[in-house]
Amino acid sequence: MTAEIIDGKVIAADLRARVADEVARVKREHNLVPGLAVVLVGNDPASEVYVRSKHTQTQAAGMASFEHKLPTDVSQQDLLTLVAKLNRDPAVHGILVQLPLPKGLNTEAVINAIDPAKDVDGLHPNNAGRLAGGFEALSPCTPLGCIILTKSVHASLEGMNAIVIGRSNLVGRPLVQLLLNENATVTIAHSRSRDLPGLVRKADLVYAAVGRPEMVRGDWLKPGATVIDVGINRIPKEDGKTRLVGDVAYQEALAVAGAITPVPGGVGQMTVACLLVNTLRAACAIAGLPKPAV
Ligand code: GUN
Repeated sequence: MTAEIIDGKVIAADLRARVADEVARVKREHNLVPGLAVVLVGNDPASEVYVRSKHTQTQAAGMASFEHKLPTDVSQQDLLTLVAKLNRDPAVHGILVQLPLPKGLNTEAVINAIDPAKDVDGLHPNNAGRLAGGFEALSPCTPLGCIILTKSVHASLEGMNAIVIGRSNLVGRPLVQLLLNENATVTIAHSRSRDLPGLVRKADLVYAAVGRPEMVRGDWLKPGATVIDVGINRIPKEDGKTRLVGDVAYQEALAVAGAITPVPGGVGQMTVACLLVNTLRAACAIAGLPKPAV
């Protein structure tokens, strides 16, 4: 038996199309154009690729995209001044400051300065706290994408055993909260967990978000488990180039899992699509409109 491959490309394209339909509707019915501002500090090549893709996809969905590029040596004060300006700008409904920030800048202070109503990354303590409390919140995009991918296989996650490996603010912690909201039973594992293979073996749903290439082995998995691989690790090849691998040993897992996301072409595709969803939701909420249909 070989696992079903969960096609993030197809699912993300479908989501983007549904966002574009809703954007067209709010434009037509309410003269509202959702706008996303992305702030990139410095010239980290990976971040530049992500930011360009956010810009292209935001415009393709019919939304306004505002890019702000700041030099690596920008002062904390100048960065906070830009965030304050975006908070006040009525054309901007979503603000994303690309992470990681260069050394010397205080990430926590920058996130705290973003208006929680425009915090489409879901990282502001107001949103993180609301999510943890089970209240309506803007939630981080990658975990939202993980839930959508899981639901492409399972209509309901109620009562399923899920394990989240990794406890970052951007992925692991919010993913745990979203799974609880779906009535899954959640184990949170991390680098200090004892007997990780034993914990993973009990799980119907496995989320690997540790950033360690191919750490989760095929023989750790319960046969038939659904595996969502959040890892994007660049490892060197013999010819000097690099290849992308996830946090799961894909070939091994393919023989045991019931369904699995590939890397690339799985979770990565979903993050930007969910950012568009969050921007649309933020724009509707700020304008006092009902929640959009996506
Ligand atoms: N860097 C990598 N992923 C993300 C993300 O989802 N949001 C932000 N702000 N930075 C990132």
